[in-house]
Amino acid sequence: MKYGYFDDENREYVITNPKTPYPWINYLGNEDFFSLTSNTGGGYTFYKDAKFRRLTRYRYNNIPADNGGKYFYIKDGDTIWSPGWKPVKTELDHYECRHGMSYTKYKGSKNRVEAEVLQFIPLGFWGEIQKVRLKNSSSDRKKIKLFSFIEWCLWNAEDDMTNFQRNFSTGEVEVKDSVIYHKTEFKERRNHYAFYSVNSSITGYDTDRETFVGLYNGLDSPVVVSEGKSNNSIAHGWSPIASHYLEIELKPGEEKELIFMLGYVEVEKDNKWESKSVINKQPAQEMISSFDTAEKVNRAFENLKAYWDNLLGKMSIQSADPRLDRMVNIWNQYQCMVTFNMSRSASFFESGIGRGMGFRDSNQDLIGFVHQIPERARERIYDIASTQFEDGSCYHQYQPLTKKGNAAIGGNFNDDPLWLILSTTAYIKETGDFSLLDEMVPFDNDAARAKSHFEHLKASFYHVVNNLGPHKLPLIGRADWNDCLNLNCFSEDPNESFQTTENQKGGTAESLMIAGLFVVYGKEYIKLCKRVGKEKEAEEAQVHVYDMIEAVKKHGWDGDWYLRAYDFFGNKVGSSENEEGKIFIESQGWCTMAEIGKEDGMVEKSLNAVKEHLDCEYGIVLNYPAFTKYYIEYGEISTYPAGYKENGGVFCHNNPWIMIGETILGRGDRAYEYYTKIAPSFLEELSELHKVEPYVYCQMIAGKEAHKPGEAKNSWLSGTASWNFYAITQHILGISPEYDGLAINPCIPSAWDGFKMKRVFRDVTYNIHVKNPDHISKGIKQILVNGKEINSNIVPILEKGKEHSVEVIMG
Ligand code: BGC
Ligand code: NOJ
Repeated sequence: MKYGYFDDENREYVITNPKTPYPWINYLGNEDFFSLTSNTGGGYTFYKDAKFRRLTRYRYNNIPADNGGKYFYIKDGDTIWSPGWKPVKTELDHYECRHGMSYTKYKGSKNRVEAEVLQFIPLGFWGEIQKVRLKNSSSDRKKIKLFSFIEWCLWNAEDDMTNFQRNFSTGEVEVKDSVIYHKTEFKERRNHYAFYSVNSSITGYDTDRETFVGLYNGLDSPVVVSEGKSNNSIAHGWSPIASHYLEIELKPGEEKELIFMLGYVEVEKDNKWESKSVINKQPAQEMISSFDTAEKVNRAFENLKAYWDNLLGKMSIQSADPRLDRMVNIWNQYQCMVTFNMSRSASFFESGIGRGMGFRDSNQDLIGFVHQIPERARERIYDIASTQFEDGSCYHQYQPLTKKGNAAIGGNFNDDPLWLILSTTAYIKETGDFSLLDEMVPFDNDAARAKSHFEHLKASFYHVVNNLGPHKLPLIGRADWNDCLNLNCFSEDPNESFQTTENQKGGTAESLMIAGLFVVYGKEYIKLCKRVGKEKEAEEAQVHVYDMIEAVKKHGWDGDWYLRAYDFFGNKVGSSENEEGKIFIESQGWCTMAEIGKEDGMVEKSLNAVKEHLDCEYGIVLNYPAFTKYYIEYGEISTYPAGYKENGGVFCHNNPWIMIGETILGRGDRAYEYYTKIAPSFLEELSELHKVEPYVYCQMIAGKEAHKPGEAKNSWLSGTASWNFYAITQHILGISPEYDGLAINPCIPSAWDGFKMKRVFRDVTYNIHVKNPDHISKGIKQILVNGKEINSNIVPILEKGKEHSVEVIMG
């Protein structure tokens, strides 16, 4: 069952039934200022950091799930309704929500009044616009009452949700004309305030939540709205809100537009006040006046569209399947921008206070984003690398506002450093900008300890070399990519966190996943060294990579697949000898991508084992059989019920590793089949079961051993977005940036006649047409560039600013 449809031309998903199986959300904002918004108006807004600068309040895990947001109430005679259906939930005559590229537009109509709300954040602007269009389509004159509603968050979202003994006494607001200002803590430690305005005179307002809602009511039935007039309440402590009250008259057929703005302002320390206790409103006034008419707003909206046209114009394909095209051309790229911006901080599954920007996460996110805005990717790499230590280890995450690393969710994950080689090489290949390597980058956020970025890569590489275990395989540390494989944790106390506990000292647990990862990015490191003339460094590194390959062949092979790890006691993990968890996906992915033992048939055997044991209708599960009891020596992985999350769930993030492995063997049919099993647009018809948005990837789909296979969770913020984009574009479609050109090496389903890709690379536009006359999966007979044959599969960097044709004949 579907709840809407894709409108590809407008790059929108159109939800036609508000009762989606879970809130289906979108993100507004592209740089500093962001909002999350659900299809029924739920969500919240923050400046840079969902933890430290949250403007509006949101209560997670609420009843109902999505309760609270930026709401409008319309009172038309005795009928009260909301244009996004919620919170009032009056049955609408028509409802539609369009989630687009950084904007959401929802529309409701009731009793021949139509209300449309367009929400977006103009580029470079620290404010969200809501353009509300009201139309009377009846033949009678209508007099309606409109109430807006937002609830202020007292800035620090964690404190806001916990420190009630203080916070119920601190809230402060000011109201002037049609603008409601939120200024809690402004007189002491803050240099910022927020405001909510409307470009029209108002009949009244409320800023005290209890006055507006009523202590015994919910947001579906605020007393003020039922009574049809506001109280002009001024909040002193408790919970400040902002609600405007407007009386609007509409002649038959008449339409009116209003501009609401939720803005954020920072002021200089000695310029905070207009007069005693009266905040300096000038910056807010300037913001308001820049968008006080529908024309100005429309122009900003057009600019936003042009911005996305440009970003998405850098890579687009034409295949025989619109479901593939809309993933590659629109939604997957869009999601990569969102994961770039948010890392794992704020979604409907991430509270915005738990996690910030992850070291491994943000590095991986870059491979799906770097072609969009390389300058921002460069800055991000710098920020991430600045949280590294001299020995190559690093903080596992940092807060976006401060950019300072912290150990709140643990540290000592031994895969972390290697991802820096991935992001850096992806950036250089995309841009040709080797100067990044010479950039002086701090260690531990300390500028005095800065070294060249190249030294950071070297530290990353040698962190593995310097941390080998008894089998000469990499020590896992707290865990590797799989946060839940806590092999040195041994937790018996329910109050301990699996992510931060490591009470078994001297742990010698080793990871085959890191071994494969090291070989893949070790080779990349060597290639880079050679490319920049560091031959000696390359030679030395090569020895370590060979040693690792040998160690894997000797100690990491189980007969039909790669082992997953050695535990604390030196026992095998992910072996046919184990009762549960006999085979894991991560080491099959990384060791096949590393091509370890390919000549001996190991890659093929491993991938065949994946097909046989891990694949299911909904994708490839992480491990099999899933754990059914708690293994103290394994940790969190065995705490999940079988089939969920890291314990036998289809972890969409690592399915593409197997797809890439399959392309190495040239098995394009299978690689693509795996792709279609988890690509959200291919699951649209399953929406009722799938539950989360059909336009973006989720982290996990319940696996074959789960209670409800196929049910998905944790949509939006996952490395799934960038890895799937990378797998489909660079390995299946096979067009990948290299230091000296665009490499072409497709591995596609044999039934395909071919495909087209437009790729803007280093300011050169390549119009690539891959033709597959013999219906094979892999292999190139001929490449013609502007009609002339070239004898390499790397198309060189051609004349900038021009369009060039590349014809590829497979065979
Ligand atoms: C989850 C992991 C996640 C980790 C973050 C675990 O509970 O299962 O997916 O990466 O928490 O700390
Ligand atoms: C989600 C985390 O964000 C990521 O860092 C981790 O690799 C996966 N879960 C697997 O545990």
